[in-house]
Amino acid sequence: MTTIPAPGHQDLSGRVCLVTGASQGIGAAASRHLARCGASVVLGARKLDACREIADGIVAEGGAATAVRVDVADDDSVRAAVEFAEQTFGALHLAFNNAGTQGPSLPLHEQEPEEYARILDVNLGGVYRSMRHEIPALLRAGGGAIVNTASVGGVIVAPGIGPYCASKHGVVGLSKSAAIDYARQGIRINVVAPGSVRTDILTGWLDDPAALEAMAEGTPQGRIAEPEELSGVVAFLLSDAASFITGAVFTADGGYTAV
Ligand SMILES: NC(=O)c1ccc[n+]([C@@H]2O[C@H](COP(=O)([O-])OP(=O)(O)OC[C@H]3O[C@@H](n4cnc5c(N)ncnc54)[C@H](O)[C@@H]3O)[C@@H](O)[C@H]2O)c1
Repeated sequence: MTTIPAPGHQDLSGRVCLVTGASQGIGAAASRHLARCGASVVLGARKLDACREIADGIVAEGGAATAVRVDVADDDSVRAAVEFAEQTFGALHLAFNNAGTQGPSLPLHEQEPEEYARILDVNLGGVYRSMRHEIPALLRAGGGAIVNTASVGGVIVAPGIGPYCASKHGVVGLSKSAAIDYARQGIRINVVAPGSVRTDILTGWLDDPAALEAMAEGTPQGRIAEPEELSGVVAFLLSDAASFITGAVFTADGGYTAV
Protein backbone atom coordinates (compact mmCIF):
# COMPACT_ATOMS: atom_id res chain seq x y z
CA MET A 1 0.00 0.00 0.00
CA THR A 2 1.26 3.51 -0.82
CA THR A 3 2.21 5.61 2.19
CA ILE A 4 0.61 9.02 1.85
CA PRO A 5 2.95 11.75 3.14
CA ALA A 6 1.66 14.69 5.13
CA PRO A 7 0.97 17.77 2.97
CA GLY A 8 3.91 20.17 2.81
CA HIS A 9 6.34 17.46 3.82
CA GLN A 10 9.73 18.15 2.20
CA ASP A 11 11.85 15.67 4.11
CA LEU A 12 14.63 14.45 1.80
CA SER A 13 16.55 12.55 4.49
CA GLY A 14 18.43 9.55 3.15
CA ARG A 15 18.20 10.80 -0.44
CA VAL A 16 21.15 11.72 -2.61
CA CYS A 17 20.64 14.55 -5.10
CA LEU A 18 22.78 15.72 -8.02
CA VAL A 19 22.37 19.42 -8.89
CA THR A 20 23.80 20.80 -12.15
CA GLY A 21 24.55 24.48 -12.56
CA ALA A 22 25.16 24.52 -8.82
CA SER A 23 28.05 27.01 -8.76
CA GLN A 24 25.79 30.07 -8.47
CA GLY A 25 22.27 31.44 -8.86
CA ILE A 26 19.25 29.17 -8.66
CA GLY A 27 21.33 25.96 -8.47
CA ALA A 28 23.47 27.17 -5.57
CA ALA A 29 20.43 28.34 -3.59
CA ALA A 30 18.56 25.09 -4.28
CA SER A 31 21.58 23.01 -3.22
CA ARG A 32 21.66 24.73 0.17
CA HIS A 33 17.90 24.26 0.60
CA LEU A 34 17.93 20.59 -0.46
CA ALA A 35 20.68 19.92 2.09
CA ARG A 36 18.60 21.65 4.79
CA CYS A 37 15.75 19.29 3.81
CA GLY A 38 18.10 16.40 4.61
CA ALA A 39 19.43 15.40 1.19
CA SER A 40 23.08 14.60 0.55
CA VAL A 41 23.86 16.98 -2.29
CA VAL A 42 26.39 16.63 -5.10
CA LEU A 43 26.96 20.09 -6.55
CA GLY A 44 28.03 20.04 -10.20
CA ALA A 45 29.13 22.77 -12.59
CA ARG A 46 32.16 23.64 -14.70
CA LYS A 47 33.41 25.92 -11.92
CA LEU A 48 34.55 23.29 -9.43
CA ASP A 49 36.05 25.75 -6.95
CA ALA A 50 32.76 27.63 -6.63
CA CYS A 51 30.86 24.36 -6.11
CA ARG A 52 33.41 23.24 -3.48
CA GLU A 53 33.00 26.49 -1.59
CA ILE A 54 29.20 26.10 -1.45
CA ALA A 55 29.52 22.41 -0.50
CA ASP A 56 31.95 23.35 2.31
CA GLY A 57 29.41 25.89 3.57
CA ILE A 58 26.69 23.22 3.62
CA VAL A 59 28.95 20.82 5.53
CA ALA A 60 29.87 23.58 8.00
CA GLU A 61 26.12 23.98 8.67
CA GLY A 62 25.86 20.26 9.46
CA GLY A 63 24.61 19.11 6.05
CA ALA A 64 26.06 16.58 3.62
CA ALA A 65 27.50 17.83 0.34
CA THR A 66 30.33 17.43 -2.08
CA ALA A 67 31.29 18.90 -5.45
CA VAL A 68 32.10 17.55 -8.88
CA ARG A 69 33.17 19.25 -12.11
CA VAL A 70 30.54 18.66 -14.77
CA ASP A 71 30.05 20.12 -18.22
CA VAL A 72 26.56 19.13 -19.36
CA ALA A 73 27.65 19.61 -22.99
CA ASP A 74 30.02 16.65 -22.54
CA ASP A 75 28.46 13.19 -22.23
CA ASP A 76 31.48 11.60 -20.51
CA SER A 77 31.57 14.39 -17.96
CA VAL A 78 27.90 13.83 -17.06
CA ARG A 79 28.40 10.06 -16.85
CA ALA A 80 31.37 10.60 -14.52
CA ALA A 81 29.38 12.96 -12.29
CA VAL A 82 26.59 10.40 -11.83
CA GLU A 83 29.17 7.69 -11.06
CA PHE A 84 30.85 10.06 -8.59
CA ALA A 85 27.52 10.65 -6.81
CA GLU A 86 26.88 6.90 -6.51
CA GLN A 87 30.42 6.19 -5.32
CA THR A 88 30.45 9.04 -2.82
CA PHE A 89 27.03 8.58 -1.21
CA GLY A 90 26.15 4.99 -2.24
CA ALA A 91 23.25 5.74 -4.61
CA LEU A 92 21.50 8.49 -6.56
CA HIS A 93 17.80 9.13 -5.91
CA LEU A 94 17.19 12.72 -7.03
CA ALA A 95 18.41 15.18 -9.65
CA PHE A 96 17.91 18.88 -10.28
CA ASN A 97 19.03 19.46 -13.88
CA ASN A 98 19.39 23.18 -13.81
CA ALA A 99 22.51 24.13 -15.79
CA GLY A 100 21.69 26.62 -18.50
CA THR A 101 23.00 29.34 -20.71
CA GLN A 102 21.72 32.32 -22.68
CA GLY A 103 22.84 34.05 -25.88
CA PRO A 104 22.67 37.53 -27.36
CA SER A 105 19.31 39.22 -27.82
CA LEU A 106 18.89 39.36 -31.59
CA PRO A 107 16.17 38.71 -34.18
CA LEU A 108 16.35 35.18 -35.54
CA HIS A 109 18.16 35.82 -38.84
CA GLU A 110 20.98 37.51 -36.92
CA GLN A 111 21.49 34.56 -34.56
CA GLU A 112 24.70 32.80 -35.59
CA PRO A 113 24.47 29.03 -36.21
CA GLU A 114 27.27 28.40 -33.69
CA GLU A 115 25.43 30.25 -30.93
CA TYR A 116 22.16 28.52 -31.81
CA ALA A 117 23.89 25.13 -31.61
CA ARG A 118 25.65 26.00 -28.33
CA ILE A 119 22.45 27.12 -26.60
CA LEU A 120 20.51 24.06 -27.77
CA ASP A 121 23.39 21.78 -26.78
CA VAL A 122 23.73 23.11 -23.23
CA ASN A 123 20.09 23.79 -22.36
CA LEU A 124 18.33 20.90 -24.09
CA GLY A 125 21.21 18.50 -24.82
CA GLY A 126 22.40 18.97 -21.25
CA VAL A 127 19.05 17.88 -19.82
CA TYR A 128 18.99 14.91 -22.22
CA ARG A 129 22.53 13.83 -21.24
CA SER A 130 21.80 14.34 -17.55
CA MET A 131 18.62 12.24 -17.60
CA ARG A 132 20.27 9.62 -19.82
CA HIS A 133 22.84 8.90 -17.12
CA GLU A 134 20.73 9.65 -14.05
CA ILE A 135 17.78 7.42 -14.90
CA PRO A 136 19.74 4.11 -14.80
CA ALA A 137 21.15 5.21 -11.43
CA LEU A 138 17.65 6.07 -10.14
CA LEU A 139 16.42 2.66 -11.33
CA ARG A 140 19.32 1.01 -9.48
CA ALA A 141 18.24 2.94 -6.37
CA GLY A 142 14.66 1.65 -6.71
CA GLY A 143 13.14 4.90 -8.02
CA GLY A 144 13.44 8.62 -7.51
CA ALA A 145 12.58 12.02 -8.89
CA ILE A 146 14.00 14.55 -11.33
CA VAL A 147 13.30 18.26 -11.75
CA ASN A 148 14.48 19.98 -14.93
CA THR A 149 14.77 23.76 -15.19
CA ALA A 150 12.97 25.25 -18.18
CA SER A 151 11.81 28.87 -18.10
CA VAL A 152 8.71 30.89 -18.82
CA GLY A 153 10.51 30.96 -22.20
CA GLY A 154 9.64 27.25 -22.38
CA VAL A 155 5.93 28.00 -22.04
CA ILE A 156 5.54 31.36 -23.79
CA VAL A 157 8.17 33.38 -25.68
CA ALA A 158 10.02 36.69 -25.52
CA PRO A 159 11.46 38.65 -28.46
CA GLY A 160 15.09 38.20 -29.53
CA ILE A 161 15.83 34.93 -27.74
CA GLY A 162 14.62 32.33 -30.26
CA PRO A 163 17.33 29.71 -29.57
CA TYR A 164 16.81 30.02 -25.79
CA CYS A 165 13.02 29.69 -26.14
CA ALA A 166 13.41 26.73 -28.51
CA SER A 167 15.75 25.00 -26.05
CA LYS A 168 13.43 25.58 -23.10
CA HIS A 169 10.31 24.46 -25.01
CA GLY A 170 12.41 21.38 -25.79
CA VAL A 171 13.14 20.83 -22.10
CA VAL A 172 9.38 20.81 -21.43
CA GLY A 173 8.70 18.28 -24.21
CA LEU A 174 11.64 16.04 -23.33
CA SER A 175 10.69 16.04 -19.65
CA LYS A 176 7.03 15.18 -20.27
CA SER A 177 8.03 12.39 -22.63
CA ALA A 178 10.54 10.94 -20.14
CA ALA A 179 7.94 11.27 -17.37
CA ILE A 180 5.58 8.90 -19.12
CA ASP A 181 8.42 6.54 -20.12
CA TYR A 182 9.29 5.93 -16.44
CA ALA A 183 5.97 6.59 -14.70
CA ARG A 184 5.51 2.91 -13.81
CA GLN A 185 9.09 2.45 -12.67
CA GLY A 186 8.98 4.75 -9.67
CA ILE A 187 10.60 7.77 -11.31
CA ARG A 188 8.81 11.12 -11.41
CA ILE A 189 10.03 13.85 -13.78
CA ASN A 190 8.80 17.43 -13.55
CA VAL A 191 9.75 20.88 -14.78
CA VAL A 192 10.18 24.17 -12.99
CA ALA A 193 9.71 27.20 -15.23
CA PRO A 194 11.07 30.33 -13.54
CA GLY A 195 10.17 33.85 -14.51
CA SER A 196 12.74 36.59 -13.97
CA VAL A 197 15.23 35.75 -11.24
CA ARG A 198 18.12 37.98 -10.13
CA THR A 199 21.10 35.95 -11.45
CA ASP A 200 23.85 36.35 -14.05
CA ILE A 201 21.73 34.85 -16.83
CA LEU A 202 19.08 37.53 -16.39
CA THR A 203 21.45 40.45 -15.94
CA GLY A 204 23.49 39.24 -18.95
CA TRP A 205 20.34 39.36 -21.08
CA LEU A 206 18.81 42.55 -19.66
CA ASP A 207 22.09 44.33 -19.08
CA ASP A 208 20.81 47.73 -18.02
CA PRO A 209 18.86 48.74 -14.90
CA ALA A 210 16.00 50.25 -16.95
CA ALA A 211 15.39 46.93 -18.75
CA LEU A 212 15.38 45.09 -15.41
CA GLU A 213 12.98 47.66 -13.99
CA ALA A 214 10.68 47.23 -17.01
CA MET A 215 10.74 43.45 -16.54
CA ALA A 216 9.83 43.87 -12.87
CA GLU A 217 6.99 46.26 -13.81
CA GLY A 218 5.68 43.77 -16.38
CA THR A 219 5.47 41.07 -13.71
CA PRO A 220 2.15 41.08 -11.82
CA GLN A 221 3.96 40.88 -8.46
CA GLY A 222 5.89 44.01 -9.54
CA ARG A 223 9.37 42.59 -8.97
CA ILE A 224 11.82 39.95 -10.05
CA ALA A 225 12.60 36.97 -7.82
CA GLU A 226 15.64 36.20 -5.70
CA PRO A 227 17.25 32.82 -6.53
CA GLU A 228 16.21 31.37 -3.13
CA GLU A 229 12.54 31.75 -4.12
CA LEU A 230 12.83 28.79 -6.51
CA SER A 231 14.20 26.39 -3.91
CA GLY A 232 10.90 25.46 -2.25
CA VAL A 233 9.19 24.35 -5.43
CA VAL A 234 12.22 22.25 -6.41
CA ALA A 235 12.35 20.54 -3.00
CA PHE A 236 8.59 19.97 -3.09
CA LEU A 237 8.72 18.33 -6.53
CA LEU A 238 11.64 16.13 -5.46
CA SER A 239 9.93 15.11 -2.21
CA ASP A 240 7.32 12.46 -1.49
CA ALA A 241 4.81 15.28 -0.98
CA ALA A 242 4.67 15.36 -4.80
CA SER A 243 4.19 11.59 -5.04
CA PHE A 244 1.37 11.81 -7.65
CA ILE A 245 2.94 14.62 -9.70
CA THR A 246 4.83 13.71 -12.84
CA GLY A 247 5.10 15.29 -16.29
CA ALA A 248 4.02 18.64 -14.83
CA VAL A 249 5.34 22.14 -15.48
CA PHE A 250 5.39 24.44 -12.44
CA THR A 251 5.75 28.11 -13.31
CA ALA A 252 7.29 30.27 -10.57
CA ASP A 253 7.03 33.66 -12.23
CA GLY A 254 5.22 36.18 -10.04
CA GLY A 255 2.14 35.80 -12.25
CA TYR A 256 3.92 36.58 -15.55
CA THR A 257 2.30 33.79 -17.59
CA ALA A 258 -1.10 34.30 -15.99
CA VAL A 259 -1.67 37.59 -17.83
N1 LIG B 1 17.51 33.86 -13.92
C1 LIG B 1 16.40 33.82 -14.63
O1 LIG B 1 15.71 34.83 -14.80
C2 LIG B 1 15.95 32.52 -15.23
C3 LIG B 1 14.65 32.47 -15.78
C4 LIG B 1 14.21 31.28 -16.33
C5 LIG B 1 15.03 30.16 -16.34
N2 LIG B 1 16.28 30.24 -15.81
C6 LIG B 1 17.09 29.04 -15.86
O2 LIG B 1 17.59 28.73 -14.57
C7 LIG B 1 18.76 27.93 -14.70
C8 LIG B 1 19.81 28.47 -13.75
O3 LIG B 1 20.22 29.74 -14.18
P1 LIG B 1 20.50 30.94 -13.19
O4 LIG B 1 19.41 31.91 -13.37
O5 LIG B 1 20.79 30.45 -11.83
O6 LIG B 1 21.79 31.59 -13.89
P2 LIG B 1 23.33 31.50 -13.54
O7 LIG B 1 24.04 32.02 -14.74
O8 LIG B 1 23.60 32.15 -12.24
O9 LIG B 1 23.59 29.94 -13.38
C9 LIG B 1 23.73 29.07 -14.47
C10 LIG B 1 24.48 27.86 -13.97
O10 LIG B 1 24.61 26.92 -15.05
C11 LIG B 1 25.98 26.56 -15.14
N3 LIG B 1 26.32 26.11 -16.50
C12 LIG B 1 26.22 26.80 -17.66
N4 LIG B 1 26.67 26.04 -18.68
C13 LIG B 1 27.03 24.85 -18.14
C14 LIG B 1 27.56 23.64 -18.65
N5 LIG B 1 27.84 23.50 -19.97
N6 LIG B 1 27.79 22.61 -17.82
C15 LIG B 1 27.54 22.74 -16.50
N7 LIG B 1 27.05 23.84 -15.93
C16 LIG B 1 26.81 24.89 -16.75
C17 LIG B 1 26.74 27.79 -14.70
O11 LIG B 1 28.06 27.51 -14.35
C18 LIG B 1 25.89 28.20 -13.51
O12 LIG B 1 26.21 27.41 -12.38
C19 LIG B 1 19.15 27.98 -16.18
O13 LIG B 1 18.75 26.77 -16.80
C20 LIG B 1 18.34 29.14 -16.70
O14 LIG B 1 18.07 29.02 -18.08
C21 LIG B 1 16.75 31.39 -15.25
